[in-house]
Amino acid sequence: MSRIEQIELYPGIFGKTARKPVNVATVPLRSPFRYPGGKTWFVPTFREWMRSLDRNPELLIEPFVGGGIISLTALFENLVPGVVMVDLDEDIAAVWQVVINGDAKWLAEKIGSFELNGDTLKEELSKRPANTRERAFQTILKNRTFHGGILANGSGIMKYGENGKGISSRWYPKTLYKRFMNIDSIAGKIDFRRVDGLGVMEEFADNENAVFFIDPPYTAGGKNAGRRLYKYNEINHRRLFAICAELKGNFLMTYDVSDGVKAMVAAHGFDMRTIPMKNTHNNRMFELVIGRDLSWFPSLPRSPWVAKRGDASRR
Ligand SMILES: C[S@@+](CC[C@H](N)C(=O)[O-])C[C@H]1O[C@@H](n2cnc3c(N)ncnc32)[C@H](O)[C@@H]1O
Repeated sequence: MSRIEQIELYPGIFGKTARKPVNVATVPLRSPFRYPGGKTWFVPTFREWMRSLDRNPELLIEPFVGGGIISLTALFENLVPGVVMVDLDEDIAAVWQVVINGDAKWLAEKIGSFELNGDTLKEELSKRPANTRERAFQTILKNRTFHGGILANGSGIMKYGENGKGISSRWYPKTLYKRFMNIDSIAGKIDFRRVDGLGVMEEFADNENAVFFIDPPYTAGGKNAGRRLYKYNEINHRRLFAICAELKGNFLMTYDVSDGVKAMVAAHGFDMRTIPMKNTHNNRMFELVIGRDLSWFPSLPRSPWVAKRGDASRR
């Protein structure tokens, strides 16, 4: 499972009808990745934000897309007609490139027919990928058999896995097959780019029909989580905030809670809220949600921390 797991959010947090805690098992798991820092737990808030907009956006820009759950949700739920997904990581990029090249079915079938064991895994990962398709397959294999799904340098194959199932504990070929086949059906609405996300934000800065969901690696204010989890993690956070201030379209950012980030929020006159989540060690944590005007953001009722965890088994 990704570094960040969904916690059950507070009763009533998502509007009048949602008196019960939001259960992550009710959030459709559409990404083929188990991505460190993945935002599945944020999907209900993302939907709420989209509903709060006073006009329907024509484009969602995700400059740090990673496993892509937010963009995929936006497309599958018809919240936007198209998305621009951006990530610098070559391994992640290979998977999204395969999707937009029309090869998602090839990847689905390759996964579906692969017999995973220690020997086949080592043999497959020792190959030098000859093309993007092979690199994409290796990425999915690594993402599903490495500790925490981490692809960054220094990561490696998990020894024990979960439930003592070792390398197979996160290898769900049938589920992955279905996810890629589903993604294939919306591939025509995806524009993926392996470039700097900040540059893409600047490119679309004047587009008032674009909205931006921004989830950068968390390295601001001396925090190190992003360094361990991602190969590309050096972000100029000040520049990112300055670009946000220039965007004609609406934006929503997530960050870890730090004084440095709060100072940048204040300096630009942005609005912010904290949102609860849990990490893989089941520790309670908060993240910051940042935007121009978060008056739509549901306020928290008094009693926090509903302990029940989401259904982790399908990730
Ligand atoms: C916090 S993760 C995003 C997780 C994503 N929201 C999800 O749900 O899976 C940040 C991502 O930014 C990517 N990244 C880092 N620097 C980048 C840059 N300058 N431009 C584009 N992507 C970058 C990393 O490779 C990583 O995948």
